[in-house]
Amino acid sequence: MAKTKTIYVCQNCGAKAPKWLGKCNSCGEWNTFVEEIETSSKSEYTNKKQTTKPELISEIEIRNEQRISTNIKEFDRVLGGGLVLGSVVLIGGEPGIGKSTLLLQAALISDNKILYISGEESNSQIKLRAKRLGNENKNLLLLSETSLENILIHLNKQKPEIVIIDSIQTLHTSKLDSSPGTISQIRETTIGLLEYAKSNSVPILLVGHINKEGNIAGPKVLEHIVDTVLQFEGDRNHIYRILRTSKNRFGSASELGIFEMLSNGLREVENPSELLLSNHENEVSGVSVSSSIEGLRAFLIEVQALVSSAVYGTPQRSTTGFDARRLNMLLAVLEKRAGFKLATKDVFINIAGGIKVNDPAIDLSIIVSVLSSDIDIAINKTDCFAGEVGLTGEIRPVARLEQRIKEAEKLGFKRIFVPSNNKKGTNFSTKKIELVFVSKVDEVFKKIFA
Ligand code: TYD
Ligand code: MG
Repeated sequence: MAKTKTIYVCQNCGAKAPKWLGKCNSCGEWNTFVEEIETSSKSEYTNKKQTTKPELISEIEIRNEQRISTNIKEFDRVLGGGLVLGSVVLIGGEPGIGKSTLLLQAALISDNKILYISGEESNSQIKLRAKRLGNENKNLLLLSETSLENILIHLNKQKPEIVIIDSIQTLHTSKLDSSPGTISQIRETTIGLLEYAKSNSVPILLVGHINKEGNIAGPKVLEHIVDTVLQFEGDRNHIYRILRTSKNRFGSASELGIFEMLSNGLREVENPSELLLSNHENEVSGVSVSSSIEGLRAFLIEVQALVSSAVYGTPQRSTTGFDARRLNMLLAVLEKRAGFKLATKDVFINIAGGIKVNDPAIDLSIIVSVLSSDIDIAINKTDCFAGEVGLTGEIRPVARLEQRIKEAEKLGFKRIFVPSNNKKGTNFSTKKIELVFVSKVDEVFKKIFA
């Protein structure tokens, strides 16, 4: 057995110490020591015979990776078209968001032989969940195990076509003394599984918990080791879940899949726009629709704003699904560049459906919703918006405008407000939807209510 020793390494400067220290003696930073393995000489998980050889680049044939479909379209999409043989995919997400549900659901409808290894739930608990999901699969084996060595024995015996591990934080290897979930254990067990995946061309799906800061608990190194990292996110109080690619060696890293969490499992949402719009019967003030791009997809999102006189001294600013600092900036722009007096008003922003939006093109929708609520005049139900707002009050160009316009047109919107600066280099061959070009914040307001 290779000799290993646990030491502590400062994550700031790389200084080593035999014991944990609160403050690093060499760089003076606090709380930066993390347990690591000193030497893990050669790995013993697989026989290391020298089988590689250098090849001339001109002689290398390009092969398409072989992929296995998960039979869940949105899942395949974020993977770049299915599971690549021999790849290791990490799925991160907060507890209770639905990681186990997603993987079990995929396992239950798969055509391949699957070994589902859980260190968190017993086989009967998993069976109970499977019953709730309403499927049975003769090719699905369940295993309750946390020792990497035992898992590898089972894998070699059963030879599954897909392996699911729930979760990587529960595994441990006898090579190390530290407890499961520590950085060195997570790293060693992942490397062991990775070697198995590569040498047997079997895809492995790993569940990883995330910590308070939203990173996958354990080391960043885990994200470097694996081939693909997916994030499962959403608001637990809402039904929508988003599966996002954040790294992918075998496909685009900006894909996005959308699901609904129902009582009998996750349902794919193929047409997110229709669901995210709430179809108010009467027009309500403070509501507008933004044509947004998340990942590579365009969909329409409803932005709701409520502006009211502040009851207490300091006005409140609160947002759900949108960056609060960005809201403050937009309010300052409205105040300075368009003459709105919002300093004594409470402003609340809500993105419908509990979805977090990162697309800057939603700015325009935020400011018109704020204005509409402030003056209590509803925005036309058939208008929608796409534009970033700059500090001088200018409407800045946005990426992939054609795709946004198409999506709005498809859903029957009559007008879309877009940045004048996008005129150049965009092909606007649309017939059904009217394009309203705007270049300044104050100009937008005149045109909306014209
Ligand atoms: P789970 O997959 O256990 O989350 P994770 O593995 O990410 O911790 O999801 C648990 C939540 O999902 C739980 O609150 C119950 C809910 N749920 C449903 O709403 N419908 C279902 O069909 C299932 C199986 C779970
Ligand atoms: Mg789980």
